[in-house]
Amino acid sequence: MFKSFALRALLACSGAVAASSAVDGVRESLHALADTLSFQGNIYKTYSPVQDKAMEAFRAVDEASSEISPSRLENVMQTLDRLLAECQLYVTESSDPNYVPGALETDEYLTNNVAEWKVAIEVMSENLEEPYGDVTAGQPLLGREKVTYDTEPGTIFSDGYNLPDMVVIPTGSCIAGATPEEHEEWNVDENRRAFEYPQRKIRISTPLAFSRTEVTVAQFASFIKHTGYRTRGGARWWDASGFVFNPNLTWESPGFPQSPDYPVVAITRYEAQAYARWLSAITGAVYRLPNEDEWDFAARGGTNTTFFWGDTLDLASEYANTYDNSSAEVNHFRWPSNKLWDGFPHTAPVASFKPNGYGLYDMTANAREFMADDWLPFLSSADSDGSIHKGPAPFPTVRGGAWNYNPKNLRISYRSAYTSSEVATNMFGIRLVRDLE
Ligand SMILES: *[C@@H]1O[C@H](CO)[C@@H](O)[C@H](O)[C@H]1NC(C)=O
Ligand SMILES: *[C@@H]1O[C@H](CO)[C@@H](O)[C@H](O)[C@H]1NC(C)=O
Ligand SMILES: *[C@@H]1O[C@H](CO)[C@@H](O)[C@H](O)[C@H]1NC(C)=O
Repeated sequence: MFKSFALRALLACSGAVAASSAVDGVRESLHALADTLSFQGNIYKTYSPVQDKAMEAFRAVDEASSEISPSRLENVMQTLDRLLAECQLYVTESSDPNYVPGALETDEYLTNNVAEWKVAIEVMSENLEEPYGDVTAGQPLLGREKVTYDTEPGTIFSDGYNLPDMVVIPTGSCIAGATPEEHEEWNVDENRRAFEYPQRKIRISTPLAFSRTEVTVAQFASFIKHTGYRTRGGARWWDASGFVFNPNLTWESPGFPQSPDYPVVAITRYEAQAYARWLSAITGAVYRLPNEDEWDFAARGGTNTTFFWGDTLDLASEYANTYDNSSAEVNHFRWPSNKLWDGFPHTAPVASFKPNGYGLYDMTANAREFMADDWLPFLSSADSDGSIHKGPAPFPTVRGGAWNYNPKNLRISYRSAYTSSEVATNMFGIRLVRDLE
C-alpha cells in the first residue's frame, strides 16, 4: 500500500492521547472531507482541497485510534491512504504549468471520480462505530479440488456448489499490444494509442486456472449471504446527459434487468477482491484477480489476432455481447452500433456466446474485467512475465470490452483505467484466476 513520507511523518509525531469526543472529531473531519468532493473545473482546484481535508481526517483518525475497532481503523486508514495517493499524484502532476489533462482525465471522468469518493467517505463515516467485517472470519473450510501444475490444460473443475467453474489454461507466449495499422483500421482515439504501444511478447510460464465465465450474480449473492458483506453502492452509468455516477445503482439493481446467471456488475475492485478472499478462505486455494499479462494471454486463447475469433468483426455476434442493433434500439448511446444483432440490449447470461480457444467465455465483451494491476499508461518498461504492475496511485486497470462497446474497444489490445480506486460501473464485473499447486 502506498504511503507518502508526509503521512509517515505525521503518524510518527502525533500523540496517542484520545479525547472523549475523538470519534465525533473523526466524523466531523470526514464530513468536511466529503464536502470538498465535487468537481471544481480542473484537476488542481478539485484535488488540492481534497488532499488537505483527507490529511486532516487522517490526523483525526489517528487521534481516535484507541476508540475505533482495529479492523475499522485499518479500513479507514487504508481508504484515506488510497485517496491521498490519488490526490498527491494529481496535485503534483497538475501543478506543472505544462500539464495537459490526458484521455482519462476529462471533466466527465473527474466529476464521477469525486462523486464516487464522496459516497465512499459518507458510507465510512456512518459505520465508524462498527468493526469492519472480515469476510474470512468464521467461514468453514470446505476444501478444494486437487488441481496441480501437471493437470491437463482444458480441465474444467469447480471447488464447490455455486462457486465459479474454472478451466486450466496452457502456458505459452503471445503478442500483446497493438500496431499503428490496427489503430488506423479501428479508428482508435489518438490520445489512447500509446497505452497499447509497443507490442510486447508476454510469456506465461506458470500454469493457472481462469474462471470460465465472469462471476455471476448468483455467485456473488452467495458470498453476500454467507458473509454479510456490505457493498458501497452507487455506480457510473450512461444516461441521457452522459456517463454519470448514479448513487442508486447496486449490484442487485445495476440500471437494467438481470437474472442470477448474468455477470455481477456495479461493484468496485475492492469488492471483487473481497469475493476472491472469501473463496480462498472457504476452499483453501488461492483465488485472485488476474493481472494484465495473464489476462492478455488467456483472452487471446492461442491467437495473436485483433479479436480472439480473427481480425474482422464479421463473427462478433457469435462470440461477444457488444453494442449491436438490439442494444442501440433500447439504449440510443451517443456512438453508432456495430450493425450486428446479438439479441442482448444490456449484459447477457454468462456463456451465451462461443468461448475462445482456451474455453473462456465473454473475454471480449459482456462485462469488462478488473485487473490486479495499478494503471500504468505505458507498459514498455514494465515486466512482461505475469507480474503485477505497481503504479503511482491505485487506479484499477480494466480489460476486455463491454455490452455497450463499439469495435475499437472490443479489440483484445484495448486497455484502459478509471482514475479512481473507488470506480464501479454497470459495465465492470469480475473474472478470477486460481493458482494451481
Ligand atoms: C503468437 O505469438 C507468440 C509469441 O511470438 C508465438 O509463440 C505464437 O506461436 C503465436 N501464435 C500464433 C497462433 O501465431
Ligand atoms: C436516486 O433515488 C432518489 C430517491 O428515489 C431519487 O430522488 C434520485 O433522483 C435518484 N437519482 C438518480 C440519479 O437516479
Ligand atoms: C442494423 O441496423 C442498420 C441500420 O442502422 C441496418 O443497416 C442493419 O441491416 C441492421 N443489422 C441487423 C443485423 O439487423
